[in-house]
Amino acid sequence: MKETSKPQIPETFVYSHEPYAGSIGDVWKHAILRFIVTTLESSSSPATRFIDAHCGSGRYQLSPGGKWQYGLAKLLARGEPFGLESESLDSAISSRQSPTTYPGSWLQVAQISDVISTIIGIDHSQDVLERATFTAKEAPTKTISFVQADSFSYLNQACLRQSLVLVDPAYCLKDGKGCDWEKLCEQPLLSKLREAYTLIWYPVYGPQKPDYLTQKYQAKGWEIRWPLRRKSAFVPSGCGVLISASLNRQIEGLEKYLASLAGYLDSEFVIRKPSHPGQNTPKNNIIVN
Ligand SMILES: C[S@@+](CC[C@H](N)C(=O)[O-])C[C@H]1O[C@@H](n2cnc3c(N)ncnc32)[C@H](O)[C@@H]1O
Repeated sequence: MKETSKPQIPETFVYSHEPYAGSIGDVWKHAILRFIVTTLESSSSPATRFIDAHCGSGRYQLSPGGKWQYGLAKLLARGEPFGLESESLDSAISSRQSPTTYPGSWLQVAQISDVISTIIGIDHSQDVLERATFTAKEAPTKTISFVQADSFSYLNQACLRQSLVLVDPAYCLKDGKGCDWEKLCEQPLLSKLREAYTLIWYPVYGPQKPDYLTQKYQAKGWEIRWPLRRKSAFVPSGCGVLISASLNRQIEGLEKYLASLAGYLDSEFVIRKPSHPGQNTPKNNIIVN
């Protein structure tokens, strides 16, 4: 594991992904990521490198009754894992037992991609990266390295050409300090991420935020809203993914497929398109489902 200078982690960002692994948002994120990886591979300029800017440990324990009941478990019960198959899930399915662990983004990419040979995982937590280094042994054919850093500083300095970049920060609105929305839209990061094949994952807390990102990036967003079990300003009513314009050709045709995933997961699928600069309110959001 390579290490850069150790970043100070604000208290609000000491985050564990374990409770959310396989949740409805997590499986949406991974289904979209996998579709993009697969379609990019057959394109004329595929990505050879995957940068998981908030990489997490790569494999997560699923506890009985956890949030994965509303995501992964639903897909498995319907016999439709939507491309989320992996060795551990396959063996759970064939033995008719519940899965006990779930792979994270970079491990899934390592497992499905033939063209991506290099994976770089960034996380500011030393503990997370120690576990990630252990998980990486599951993908011995790939060159996987980890950097302990603040993702935004890393991305600002890195060369992102020919890279598929997943930006998946842990947002926190509770105390107003989870302001990664603002960080995402700062220059020069905004321009750099526009050049790469970029996916930015975000929670949907209010109608204004996704428009804020699609407008700033002048990029398309796919937004998924699900039925809320507990209403609170701090519980997201869904999540979304911002897709850099460099992926426009690759995503043609995927929307129909994702709309059918929405049916499986009782979700509403919304396509957000940016309005042209100067136009105040985006009027072209399309609700599918
Ligand atoms: C949502 S989890 C990652 C999940 C993973 N991308 C997946 O889909 O399997 C977010 C991770 O980002 C890390 N993190 C949050 N903010 C960060 C920052 N500014 N810089 C680096 N890592 C950060 C956390 O430690 C956590 O492990």
